[in-house]
Amino acid sequence: MTDFAPLLERVFDFIPQEDSYLVEDIEGRLPSFLEGTYYVNGPGRFSRGGLKYRHWLDGDGMVCSLKFDSGGVRFTNRFVRSVKWNDEEKAGRAIYRTFGTAFQDDQLNQRGIGLESPANVSVYDHGGQLLAFGEQGLPYRLDPDSLETLEQHTFDDRLNEVSPFSAHPKIDPRSGEFFNFGISFSSVRPSLVVYRFDSQGRLVLRKRHPLDDPCSMHDFGLSPNYTCFYISHFLLDMARLKEGASLMDSLHWTPGETSRLLIAARESGGQRAAIPVGEGHCLHFINLFEEDGKLHVDVVELDEPIYQRYQPVPGLFEEVQPGRPVRFTVDTDNWTLSDRRRLPYDKAPDFPSLDPRRHCKPYDDFWMLGISATGKRGRKFFDQLVHCRWSEPELQDVYSAPSGCYLGGEPVFMPDAQSESGAVICQMFEAENRASSFLVFDPMQVSNGPLARLKLRHPVPLLFHASYSPRGGPDWDESARPGDDWVKK
Ligand SMILES: [Fe+2]
Repeated sequence: MTDFAPLLERVFDFIPQEDSYLVEDIEGRLPSFLEGTYYVNGPGRFSRGGLKYRHWLDGDGMVCSLKFDSGGVRFTNRFVRSVKWNDEEKAGRAIYRTFGTAFQDDQLNQRGIGLESPANVSVYDHGGQLLAFGEQGLPYRLDPDSLETLEQHTFDDRLNEVSPFSAHPKIDPRSGEFFNFGISFSSVRPSLVVYRFDSQGRLVLRKRHPLDDPCSMHDFGLSPNYTCFYISHFLLDMARLKEGASLMDSLHWTPGETSRLLIAARESGGQRAAIPVGEGHCLHFINLFEEDGKLHVDVVELDEPIYQRYQPVPGLFEEVQPGRPVRFTVDTDNWTLSDRRRLPYDKAPDFPSLDPRRHCKPYDDFWMLGISATGKRGRKFFDQLVHCRWSEPELQDVYSAPSGCYLGGEPVFMPDAQSESGAVICQMFEAENRASSFLVFDPMQVSNGPLARLKLRHPVPLLFHASYSPRGGPDWDESARPGDDWVKK
């Protein structure tokens, strides 16, 4: 079998050093408007006390930050001191079962009904509260500068360790309201739980939607008036998990079953529609917005779930199936699907991102990572940064990493506060030299290559989701409520 990712094992075979320093080795020129902090979280450590993890989602969460200001760029990286991390550090061995690795005498979380979160998927700043999220479980609050772990975040004790809570909250860019969801995987009464918090993080609404099956979901969409969930037949068998299987081995995909968009009212949480959309799967939403009585639901749609392609580390994506950006247009008068558009880029794209100022609003451009060797059998990894435009489907704006270099980290858009433009940033790992860097691009011309490359002193693994906090924080109007001015007519 061909190896399309030579030396990829080097991304996973070391324990990164924690550090904080001014980045001195910068190739090229950074945009002068950058003033704020970029954060990225992901699995950063793949072994503990002789145990080697077999799945990409297993590693302990490590957050990296780049603080841009007039004094330069400060890089900081630190592992999240989760319950899992602290207990295993103290014991000097692996204690908890992880997403893809089960072992003798491993433990689930305190209540025995799920995994102890490694807090390794995403990191978001909600009004000065920097939160690191795992695939499920409560987030951890970090110091925004030092990245020191402060506490498990319970939203004023309104949530606890049994509250299902995903790694993909959505923050409304106008009001600062914070939404999230979780799946309660009961075999008897599975349900989707939707949460709404105000801009201060106070719980306003918790709404439970019964589900036909305990289906796994990772992300959702938020528009001015709706929340939207892509429900597919990727089911979790809790009995298998309780019997000792890993979460990965307890998940089951049934091809050919109908997938649906579940749409609910954003304010009340009441269900509005469940619309059949084919037989695909969705890991990540791109954006959701309303226009002319239509709800546009933009997702990266996959032919099948991708999690089984995240193993065995380091042999990732050997037989990865294609995926592509899809726009479902829903008529909100009669709740029918009036259009479905696909963009042509299908090289297993993931980690979609757009200008955060366009969340919940009409937009055109977005960015993702892709795997150039998709469709060929053999180990491979993300090696393309793709810029897509809905109004120009054939746009060819792709950056391909040099041979032996791999990309990671959601390609976050860092806005220029004075204009509509900005910069896009992602990670690169140069396997031969075990060297890590961050690449900063002109968002509209990524094929030109990076404007600047920030070279790190020590290697860091390729991580998952990222976010950007402008200096001075967000500009929210706490009293703003969805109204006609939120929706383009
Ligand atoms: Fe994700």
